[in-house]
Amino acid sequence: MTKIIVFDAYGTLFDVNAAARIYANSNDDENFLGIWEKLSSLWREKQISYTWYYTSMGHKTNFWKVTENALDYALDYYQLSNSPNLRDNLLSLYKELNLFPEVLEVLKKLKMQGFPLAILSNGTTDMLNSAVQKANISEYLTAIISAEDLGFFKPHNQIYSKVLQHFSCKPTEVIFVSSNGWDAVGGSAFGFHSLWVNRNSLPEEQMFWSPTWRGTDLNSVLEVV
Ligand code: LAC
Repeated sequence: MTKIIVFDAYGTLFDVNAAARIYANSNDDENFLGIWEKLSSLWREKQISYTWYYTSMGHKTNFWKVTENALDYALDYYQLSNSPNLRDNLLSLYKELNLFPEVLEVLKKLKMQGFPLAILSNGTTDMLNSAVQKANISEYLTAIISAEDLGFFKPHNQIYSKVLQHFSCKPTEVIFVSSNGWDAVGGSAFGFHSLWVNRNSLPEEQMFWSPTWRGTDLNSVLEVV
């Protein structure tokens, strides 16, 4: 049977550093130009950490609130909480993140080969719809599956399970693609075939499960299907 290819969104299709990079390059702010990379990376680190904290605490929330709170932490850390409009601008840009350069071509090729393609993300439905619309990729996607209605986050198995509910399929019929090592491991633990897109040349997570395949960018999907 044709495999269903399911992508993580943030960091896998969409470049999470694009918001801070675009802001830094379009504003005459020497201070921000010097620290945007560190701020962006702390923002992402806190965003993901908060999803794990809340999920392990059994507290339901959504990814937009977590994204705002993580940004507040990062701005506070770099003493930028009082910078006029910075928070609002970064959050607006986060709703319209750029695709990584190879993503569009890969989605086109996979769609032409007949694979059903979907997103499974912690992002809220609004966040995902906005990013997908801005990137013009909705025509390639059969489904955009959000964790929002459950109120907790990957790697909780109920989030991965939403793919089975949506497609009425078995885990082994799914190839799950994520640039987050822990998320690829989460997919493997759930029973998906998983591809870890190791965009940042990181060492592999030392956990009980491993990704089925490893690659360096989204072109790797074309090699494993
Ligand atoms: C997502 C995060 C994990 O899109 O990147 O679900």
